[in-house]
Amino acid sequence: MSPATPRIVIVGPGAIGGLLAARFIRSGFPVKLLVKNSQRASFLRRKGLRIEENNAQKIKTHFISSKRFERIEPKASHLSGCDLIFFCTKSYDTLKAARSARPLVDEAQAIVSLQNGIIHKPILNRIFGTKKLVLGISFIAATRSTPNHIRHISGDLIYLAAHPTNKKVIPLAREALEHCGWRVRVTSDEKGMLWTKLMLNASTNPLAALSGVSNEHLVRNPALKDLLLKTLQESLGVMHKTKIRPLFPDLRQIVLKAMDHSEGQINSMLQDIQAGRPTEIDAIVLPILKEARQQGQKLPFLEGLYRFVKGLEKDLHE
Ligand SMILES: NC(=O)c1ccc[n+]([C@@H]2O[C@H](COP(=O)([O-])OP(=O)(O)OC[C@H]3O[C@@H](n4cnc5c(N)ncnc54)[C@H](OP(=O)(O)O)[C@@H]3O)[C@@H](O)[C@H]2O)c1
Repeated sequence: MSPATPRIVIVGPGAIGGLLAARFIRSGFPVKLLVKNSQRASFLRRKGLRIEENNAQKIKTHFISSKRFERIEPKASHLSGCDLIFFCTKSYDTLKAARSARPLVDEAQAIVSLQNGIIHKPILNRIFGTKKLVLGISFIAATRSTPNHIRHISGDLIYLAAHPTNKKVIPLAREALEHCGWRVRVTSDEKGMLWTKLMLNASTNPLAALSGVSNEHLVRNPALKDLLLKTLQESLGVMHKTKIRPLFPDLRQIVLKAMDHSEGQINSMLQDIQAGRPTEIDAIVLPILKEARQQGQKLPFLEGLYRFVKGLEKDLHE
């Protein structure tokens, strides 16, 4: 290890966090995992991670023994020695996980979040400050078929948002990710970046959760494609009335292509419903509905999908 190699902590080694962790390990970075509780820590210490990587349509399975991690702990106080934190929990776990990671922040140089939605931003800003925090989005599809078996379905593109306060720490995050083979783009439009991903998620995740199909069927089934496009059009209408602009001029084509190219991907909202877990619907759809309400707009498709998914969540908990 070169003395310049940053020491990585992954907070929440689920689908995305586990995939990042495995790539960092295989690229020679020292990696520690901050996990939810002691059961998860002892499970990962016994089992390690099994990663199916999709590289140019070639699937390779890698077993990452727990011995290759520096530490796997539920308490940040046991993880000292950290330069770069990747924050990879679901949106609804942000507050608890950020409080648990707080002791690492003084010695870390940067904290990167690749979470979906927009409600994590104020929480992370409050707990970590803005100088070290880098919000990003990923165009990566990964699933967890068992608690330690992660499948990288598709995608290798990550956007990081730079602003005057955090620009010094961007190169560290960017270089570490690129060293592991991820393509990284840096944008100065944080809001545009987060809302672009919000548009993609809001038009696809609830629909997949309700219809129970993998991503490609959302665009290969004409009725689902029609619903997807109507939901996207509604959401884009709200976004256009704000001053926030999407990262890409033709988001419609990007969404259709992303779904078509993630064959077999059970999107995370559907995975959550199937596993009886809460979904990220409040982080992904509610901000658009709130903004629409302020604009005096009605979004019948998105509102309907929101109510259905909330109903499914409620049924699962009763
Ligand atoms: N999966 C994808 O393809 C994908 C793509 C782009 C963006 N994203 C976004 O990335 C984020 C993570 O998604 P994911 O699919 O990786 O979710 P996931 O598989 O559910 O992983 C989240 C991990 O966070 C852990 N966690 C929860 N509370 C924690 C705490 N207090 N401390 C430490 N760890 C904690 C969970 O532990 P347990 O397992 O013990 O519950 C789980 O391992 C989400 O915002 C998602 O929308 C995902």
